Amino acid sequence: AETRFVCHYTTWSRDRPDEGAFQINDIPGNLCSHVVYNFLGVNETSYELELLQPEYDIGERGLERFAALKDQYPHLKRLIAVGGWAHGGAKFSEMAKFRTRRNQFIGSVVKFLHQYRLDGIELVWLYPGNFDRGGAVEDKDTFLYLVSELAKVIRDESKQWEVVIQVPLDISRMAVGYHQEELCAAADYVHAVGYDMRGWWNNFADVHSPLAPRPNDLLMESFEHVNVGDGVDDWLGKGCPPEKLTLGVALFGRTYLLDDPLDNTIGAVTIGAGDPGPYSNEPGYLGYCEFCQNLTSSEWTKKWDDVGLCPYAYTDTTWIGYENERSLQEKINYVKRKGLGGLYAFSLDLDDYRGSCGEPFPLTRFLSKYHDETKIKDWHIFVSTTEKKELNISETQSGESAR
Ligand SMILES: *[C@@H]1O[C@H](CO)[C@@H](O)[C@H](O)[C@H]1NC(C)=O
Ligand SMILES: *[C@@H]1O[C@H](CO)[C@@H](O)[C@H](O)[C@H]1NC(C)=O
Ligand SMILES: *[C@@H]1O[C@H](CO)[C@@H](O)[C@H](O)[C@H]1NC(C)=O
Repeated sequence: AETRFVCHYTTWSRDRPDEGAFQINDIPGNLCSHVVYNFLGVNETSYELELLQPEYDIGERGLERFAALKDQYPHLKRLIAVGGWAHGGAKFSEMAKFRTRRNQFIGSVVKFLHQYRLDGIELVWLYPGNFDRGGAVEDKDTFLYLVSELAKVIRDESKQWEVVIQVPLDISRMAVGYHQEELCAAADYVHAVGYDMRGWWNNFADVHSPLAPRPNDLLMESFEHVNVGDGVDDWLGKGCPPEKLTLGVALFGRTYLLDDPLDNTIGAVTIGAGDPGPYSNEPGYLGYCEFCQNLTSSEWTKKWDDVGLCPYAYTDTTWIGYENERSLQEKINYVKRKGLGGLYAFSLDLDDYRGSCGEPFPLTRFLSKYHDETKIKDWHIFVSTTEKKELNISETQSGESAR
C-alpha cells in the first residue's frame, strides 16, 4: 500500500539569519504526502486551540499561506501540530481533565480545520502521566478520552480529516501515560518519535536513534530497551496495527563535548553539549545543513555504529551522532520489514535545504524516493507489460530485506 511520508514545517525557522531563513514557500510539497505546521497550543483558561505566534500565524498570514500549499500541490495533506516540547504537558493535562473542557478544545479544533480548510491535527502531548513533563496520574485515561472523542467528532464531520497522535518509543514513558492498544484503535495514525533517545544530558557520547540495543546499552540498565526496535516492538506487541505506525526520523544530529579527545567511542564520557549551530541555535543540537559540509573535511573522523545502524563523527572534543542516507536506508528497510505505515521527518528546515553540500533537501529527497516506490506498487496492475517487468525487478530488489 502507499505509505505516508510526512514532512514537518517549523514556524520559528523563518527568523534565522540571512539565507538560513526557511519560509513557507521553501516547503518542497512535491516530496511529501503530508506537511505539518508546528506548533499551535492549548489555551489554559478557555481550553481552546491557541495560536503561539499570532503575529506570524495571522499577522503574516502564516496559516493562510500554509493552507494554500494545496493549490500548488493538490495531493498534499496539511496538518497542524498542537503542543511540542516547549509547550509542555500541563496545559494538556488541565484541558483533558474534564469532558466539558475537552469539548471546548475539540470544538475549537473542528472550527479551525473548517476555517483554514486543513486536513487534520497531530496531538504532540509530551508526555501524558509523566510528572517531569507536568503530567498527572489521571492523564493516562484522559488522554485516551481526548483522542477517542476528538476522533469521533471528526469522523462525524465526514471530511477525511486525520487525527494523529505523536508518541514516544522510549518505553520508560509508556506505562504511566499510554493505553497503547486503545489509542492506536482510536487515532487514525500514530507518529512514533524514533530519535532524541540520547543526548548530552546523559553525559556519554552516543547516536540518538539506534535501531537495536548495543553492548554498551546492556552495561547501563536504564538504556537496555531505549532504541527504535524495542520501542516499535512494544507498540506492536500491545496491539497497535503496524500500518498505523509511522516512524519518525531526525534530520539533525545530537552533539557532545568529549571529556578526553582520545576517548571517542560510543559511551565515552562527555562534559556537556556541543556548540549551538548558526541557524538552529541550540546547544547539543545541529541541523544536517549545519554540519554536512564540515564532515567532508579530513579533520572529522567518521564512524558507523554497526548494531544501532547510525553514523557518528568526531573532531578534537566535538562528537556528533546523526542520520545520513545510509542510516535512513536502514530505517526504510526496517519500516518495510515491519510493515509500518511510513515515515515522518523532523524537520524540513534542518535538512540541507539550500544545497550547500549538493542537491537541496538530500535527506528529504532520499526518504521521498521510498514513498514514491510504494505509490507505484499500488498501480502495477494497470501498467503495460514492459513497465510491469521493470517493476518486478525493482520490487524484487527493494523487497529483499522484507524476507
Ligand atoms: C486564552 O483565552 C482567553 C479567554 O478566551 C483569552 O482572553 C486569551 O486572550 C487567550 N489567550 C491567548 C494567548 O490566546
Ligand atoms: C563547521 O564549519 C563552520 C565553517 O568553517 C564552522 O564555523 C563551524 O564551527 C563548524 N561546525 C562544527 C560543528 O565544527
Ligand atoms: C520476476 O522476476 C523474477 C526474478 O527476477 C523472475 O524469476 C520472474 O519470472 C519474474 N516474474 C514476472 C511475472 O515477470
